This record gives sequence, structure tokens and C-alpha cells, in this order.
Amino acid sequence: MGAGIASALANRKKLYKGVNPSKCVTGGAAPAMKLGLKTVMIPADGAAEPAARCLADGGLVAFPTETVYGLGADATNARAVARLYEAKGRPSFNPLIAHVSDLHAARQIAHFDDKSLRLAEAFWPGPLTLVLPKIAGCPVSDLATAGLETVAVRIPAHPAARAILHAFGKPVVAPSANISGHVSPTTADHVFGDLAGRIDLIVDGGPVAVGVESTIVGCFNTSLLLRPGGLPREDIERVLGEKLARIPEDAGAADAQPLAPGMLASHYAPRARVRLNVDTLEAGEALLAFGPDTVPGSERAIVMNLSEAGDLVEAAANLFGYLRDLDAKAPPAIAVMAIPYEGLGEAINDRLQRAAVPRS
Ligand code: TXA
Ligand code: MG
Repeated sequence: MGAGIASALANRKKLYKGVNPSKCVTGGAAPAMKLGLKTVMIPADGAAEPAARCLADGGLVAFPTETVYGLGADATNARAVARLYEAKGRPSFNPLIAHVSDLHAARQIAHFDDKSLRLAEAFWPGPLTLVLPKIAGCPVSDLATAGLETVAVRIPAHPAARAILHAFGKPVVAPSANISGHVSPTTADHVFGDLAGRIDLIVDGGPVAVGVESTIVGCFNTSLLLRPGGLPREDIERVLGEKLARIPEDAGAADAQPLAPGMLASHYAPRARVRLNVDTLEAGEALLAFGPDTVPGSERAIVMNLSEAGDLVEAAANLFGYLRDLDAKAPPAIAVMAIPYEGLGEAINDRLQRAAVPRS
């Protein structure tokens, strides 16, 4: 690893001046292609300037947000966005979220009406994404918005993300920093495992706080909940003074140009089969538990408990990491105990249902 770091630094003297990488690798274990890039991992402290330079050079930078790690590219650079799709192995009809540093920057790309402004003021920075009409001449590349007339915008709260966005000064598109279809990363090591050799830089800010992606609200004539996420629906409805409508069931079909195309049926997929709402465990299954109770058959099983106290915030933070850990043991199936639907439970159940969609 030492020689790898030395040669990466030699190649990137300009980019990472004064920064000590903690990890560096060439190649990649990921399927489909080997992009053969040197991926450097650096600590979040002092990362803003090198990260901004890398983005300005058209590079791909993974960085922590409060929800999950994002894989960032310059939103205005179609070539960088194309590289990002390639690195993720992501279907290109899937539009991306433009991350900006403040409301002023958000208004350079999207139109806000009274309602969206209320939401922005109440919840930004934070785990909320607003889908809004683009302004005329919106600089976000058409590739990033999949040619839609709307753009998804978010101001993340994580200090490392904010520092990078501030230093870069332009919108950054950032899907979750995983190979398309894998579970979203909540640590820098998850990112490294998926994307080493396929991206330029990983900014390590430790484990994230929220653990599920942002809640996405479509600000149309009716306000739509496009994706439940890290901000509970109830909080949004309180500020809006009205209920959020859910998107129609078929809007996420893979062959449509859907409202929230990222809601592909099996978007959060461990390799193991996933069985939900279990009250007994079958032979060989691993158990993803929740709350103080246990289920018959778990005595000899691998068990991870999302939150023994039954705390949904703790459960959300643990969800993707525990799914990865259980999947790594290669059980025939991961059995999941029932999780209540209130608060963050809506987002947790949504991700689990996607993980449980049968795959060929
Ligand atoms: O928490 C998050 O939101 C994370 C962090 C990194 O910020 N990002 C994230 O991005 O989850 P991604 O690409 O995995 O999910 C983006 C979602 C997709 O479901 C996509 O379809 C939806 O946003 N989206 C983006 N633009 C849209 C648009 N114009 N209309 C409707 N949905 C849109
Ligand atoms: Mg994702």
C-alpha cells in the first residue's frame, strides 16, 4: 500500500498538495468494467480545497453527507457527469440531485414558490431534496437531469460536504457513492469497497449520522412525497400545512420516464434474499432484528439488532451498514423483523421493501 500511495501522490502532486492520503488503490473489484483509476482516500479535515480542485478538473469525489456518502461531480460538466454514471454503472435515465452550499446558489438553478421556500427555510441545510422547475439557462447539465424540466436540489448539512461545496462554488451532483443497485454507503470504507479504482478521491468523514437518503418532495401543483427519507413526512406536512401525496404505484416502473426514476424496484439490493416482517427464523437465515424482542429460531443464527431500544433514528443510521455486514456472511436469506411505519420507519420500510424485491 505504501508504494501505491507514493505513486498516487507523484501523479497528483498538484491535486492533493499538502494532503496525506490514508488509503490508495488502483484497479477495482467492482463488476462490469475496470476503470483502473488511482483512488486516494483523505481525511475530511483539510479536504475542501483538494476536493474542489478535483471536481474542477472533471474528477469524481466521494464525500460524506449527513444522510449517506455521495459521489460528486461538477453538475455543469456533462463529461464529468457521464464519468459518474459510468463509475456507478447506473442507468442513465436516472436523474441526479444537485447539491449546493446555500439558498442563493439554489436559486441560480431552480424556481422556488412560497411553499418550496418555506420548506427550504425550515429544513435546509438537512436531509430534504426538493424537485423544482429549472430556471431558464439552468447550468446543470441535461445529462444530470435526464432531460427533465425539473431539477432536484439539496443543501446538505454535513460540515465536510458544506466546505467542499463552498470551496467549489458550483452545484455538485451526487448520487449515493455505491455501485448502482448496491446498498448505499454510510462509511468511507463502504465507498472504497465499491468504487476503488473507479473514482479519483474519497473524503473520509467517519460514519454518517442519518443513514438513509434524503426525503424527496416534488414541488408541483400538489406537493408529492417522491421518496421517504431522512426527514420524516410528518415534519414536512406540519410546515406545509397539508398532507403530502404519494406518487402513483406504477410511476417507478423501469420502462417509464417516472417522477422519481430512482425508485427502481430493486434499488437497495443485498445479494442474499430478504424476507420481511418475520416472526420465526428458518434454518441458516441471518436475522436483522429490531427492538427488545427476539424470534424463535434466532438462538443459533447470526443476529444484528438495528436498535434494541426500538429507536427508529438509531435503526436508520445502522440499516445499510448492517445489511452489508449480514450480506457479507453469505446467508441464504436475511430475515427482517417488523419495523413500525412512523417517523423514519417509513423510509426504513421503503428501503427494506426494495431490498426484498425478488431478483433473477
Ligand atoms: O441523501 C441523498 O439524497 C443522497 C446524498 C448523497 O445526498 N443522494 C442520493 O442520490 O440519494 P440518488 O441519486 O441515489 O437519488 C436521487 C433521487 C433518485 O430517486 C432520482 O430519481 C430522484 O432523486 N430525482 C432526481 N432528479 C429528479 C427529478 N428532476 N424529478 C424527480 N426525481 C428526481
Ligand atoms: Mg442511491
